[in-house]
Amino acid sequence: MAGRRGALIVLEGVDRAGKSTQGRQLVAALCAAGHRAELLRFPERSTEIGKLLSSYLEKKSELEDHSVHLLFSANRWEHVPSMKEKLSQGVTLVVDRYAFSGVAFTSAKKNFSLDWCKQPDVGLPQPDLILFLQLGLADAATRGEFGRERYEDRAFQERALQSFQQLMGDSTLNWKVVDASRSIEAVHEEIRALSEDAIRSAAQRPLGVLWK
Ligand SMILES: Nc1ncnc2c1ncn2[C@@H]1O[C@H](COP(=O)(O)OP(=O)(O)OP(=O)(O)O)[C@@H](O)[C@H]1O
Ligand SMILES: [Mg+2]
Repeated sequence: MAGRRGALIVLEGVDRAGKSTQGRQLVAALCAAGHRAELLRFPERSTEIGKLLSSYLEKKSELEDHSVHLLFSANRWEHVPSMKEKLSQGVTLVVDRYAFSGVAFTSAKKNFSLDWCKQPDVGLPQPDLILFLQLGLADAATRGEFGRERYEDRAFQERALQSFQQLMGDSTLNWKVVDASRSIEAVHEEIRALSEDAIRSAAQRPLGVLWK
């Protein structure tokens, strides 16, 4: 299948919805089925920008709100060349959080419009599939206490969820809402089938440009 590009598949959802669990299982299942697939996550904490973000999230440092929003976006942009390269080589990328988390979290802060928050990410590679792992905040709470990182509180998560819902109203993007309250295996099976479809259709058309 020379020349076939890989699919860009994004996992989004509130904290503890199962994004990381599902991302790992999805990549393993796709590889076992003979696809080339790799897992990415944002923020990617290993780069210089990623280290600033990690320290901010761990509350070891303070950063101005606009400035940190732009750094989260820059952390995605710094990976765009390698993402495009891999996709064009036929590797499917499964991404644990992307621009949608970036927008949902900053717009949950006071005095940030959704539109302003989206601008820095305009032009990123557009996902072929965005899986929104839907889980009520009460159900998420049964999966363990919040950690000590920034943004891990109920009222903030509530506002972020409202922003996610606004973003999901954009019918130019291929959002699929997945009921994440079911067993890991049931969620995995649905996500795997949706991803196989996305890989098939991505091969037929060029990679899109986000929010343009
Ligand atoms: N379907 C499920 N049913 C019950 N527990 C689950 C399910 N999926 C994941 N979990 C558990 O919930 C916890 C959170 O899962 P995970 O880390 O995958 O979520 P996440 O969306 O990546 O969270 P975060 O946003 O904090 O990174 C883990 O302990 C995981 O084992
Ligand atoms: Mg996670």
